[in-house]
Amino acid sequence: MIFDATSLLSNRASAADEGAIIRMSQKTRELRAKGQDVVALTIGEPDFATPENIRDAAKDALDQGFTHYAPVAGIAELREAIAEKLRVENGLNYQAANIVLANGTKQAITNAVLSLIGPGEEAIVLAPYWVSYAASIKLAGGTCVVVESTVAENYKPPIARIAAAITPATKLIFLNSPCNPTGAVWNGAELEALADVVRKNPRVMVLADEIYEYILFEGAMVSFGTLPGMAERTITLNGFSKGFAMTGWRLGYAAAPLPVAVAMGRMQSIISAGANMFVQKAAVAALQGPRDGVQAMVKMYKRRRDMVLSGLLAINGVVISPIPGTFYAFPDVSNFLGRLAGNQVIETTDQLCDWLLEVHGVAVVPGTAFGAKNSIRLSFAASEADIEKALARIKTGLLALS
Ligand SMILES: Cc1ncc(COP(=O)(O)O)c(C=O)c1O
Repeated sequence: MIFDATSLLSNRASAADEGAIIRMSQKTRELRAKGQDVVALTIGEPDFATPENIRDAAKDALDQGFTHYAPVAGIAELREAIAEKLRVENGLNYQAANIVLANGTKQAITNAVLSLIGPGEEAIVLAPYWVSYAASIKLAGGTCVVVESTVAENYKPPIARIAAAITPATKLIFLNSPCNPTGAVWNGAELEALADVVRKNPRVMVLADEIYEYILFEGAMVSFGTLPGMAERTITLNGFSKGFAMTGWRLGYAAAPLPVAVAMGRMQSIISAGANMFVQKAAVAALQGPRDGVQAMVKMYKRRRDMVLSGLLAINGVVISPIPGTFYAFPDVSNFLGRLAGNQVIETTDQLCDWLLEVHGVAVVPGTAFGAKNSIRLSFAASEADIEKALARIKTGLLALS
């Protein structure tokens, strides 16, 4: 008998889904390998190089021998620098002891969820949501409760809908502003309304993922933890991937009330020990150095945002909400579902994205990956030439449906 390890996989491993983003990227690679010209707006990754001062700091750190294990929660110098950044830029009052570094914000999120959520316990995610939230809740054995919103609501659910989803088992509400995949940003009044709900539910905490805070084109960044009484009720998540174009460096962090920070440190210790040592040294340079590199990137994203908005608005039937932040557009394309592509009926955004890719050479991600079946996600962390080409192909494709 041939040994097949499939039957040995845990329920956890079997339930884990590779996700539509990975599937679309894989398909793009396969088509390109066959010689097809494909423009991809799939990946949420800055196409810029990490600013030079940060790269130099990493090289110096390597040369100076910062190649050993780091303390589990992170080096003191960086935890201090993050506490200072949160104080000065965000108005958040955390001490270094409240800060826990991780190998990417993704891991910081998993550390937080594993620290708070277990079987039978619930976490609320606001759809459209970043796919990893649901995955980490599932991994922890918890229940992911989805609260939906529409493009007409600018992808921010009315607060009453969130309040109605809270049960005695609810421990966490995920908040992501600026939001992947919608680009939505919560203003102070909206956050205050959410804080009111949290005040009325004394066993609920908010996980505020602020990783896109710098990629903001309109309005002001308000950190949820600054609202009255919310510091003790919030886990603030952030990282270096998006704002500093450091995706491959894998560094993120959480700022949390002390008992949660200690628990998260334990998770970090079990899973990987302290985050990469010389990357932490470079991160200090990122926080304390000049920000002109970051500002230049944001300026480019804004130009691209304008291109994408006007390109999508020019397609009759596409419904789009404002994009005050991030590098994503999340148009509602439900007007195009149920139509014919040749003799195939396109019923779902998954089918629509497959067809756009295979027939029109443009890769975007179906909204189902984000708990939103009517939309598709375009990442404009891509060159203007690619964005222009992609928009033209999307338009040709959508208007060809009958
Ligand atoms: C909303 C959100 N949070 C967190 C992350 C994870 O970032 P990191 O690269 O720091 O793990 C991403 C990455 O796509 C994201 O979109």
